[in-house]
Amino acid sequence: MRRWLVALIITAGGAAGAAASGLERVPAIAHPATAKECGECHMAFQPALLPAGSWLRIMDGLADHFGEDASLPADLTASIRAYLAANAGRSGDPKITRITEQSWFAKEHRFRSAVWQRPEIKAKSNCLACHPRAEQGNYDDD
Ligand code: HEC
Ligand code: HEC
Repeated sequence: MRRWLVALIITAGGAAGAAASGLERVPAIAHPATAKECGECHMAFQPALLPAGSWLRIMDGLADHFGEDASLPADLTASIRAYLAANAGRSGDPKITRITEQSWFAKEHRFRSAVWQRPEIKAKSNCLACHPRAEQGNYDDD
């Protein structure tokens, strides 16, 4: 945990005592195409962070991916789609495509808006700003 973050969270009233998400350690990405193609604009998110339905929606809508065109050749899309769905998590709402809009995420990240507005953070989806081992699937930093 980053030291400045600990200070902010203590001031914010804390995430301590939040219910366990079951996602504190998820398997790292073990599919080179996913790691490469889905790690270009942001950290490649581990499949266990979303249920299969969310991944299918994401993979079927890459041409308009949160406002960006992230489309890929059909064979690559199919291979990444299959990997993400086969290794998806069990928690979360499959109609929601954002990790950061899942209810477990809100529960684990009850911070004041001042925390999210830190220049080091920029976006809720910037897991690495606060979880230095996020690329290994390790969100257990206390
Ligand atoms: C061209 C750039 C680009 C590529 C390539 C890309 N993404 Fe994204 N992705 C974005 C942007 C922009 C956002 C929105 C970021 C934000 O608002 O915080 C995003 C957000 C996401 C989110 C939601 C994050 C949250 O807020 O919870 C997921 C999940 C995601 N991408 C998965 C993927 C997957 C899977 C791939 C590979 C098939 C991929 N992305 C490839 C640009 C990209
Ligand atoms: C502003 C900093 C910040 C950002 C950005 C952030 N997190 Fe967190 N996250 C935390 C803190 C602080 C906790 C609570 C730590 C604790 O209680 O162990 C936490 C808890 C978690 C937990 C629960 C860990 C546990 O022990 O149960 C998971 C899983 C998690 N975050 C995943 C993510 C993912 C995935 C992203 C990006 C999509 C993300 N976080 C973005 C700060 C952040």
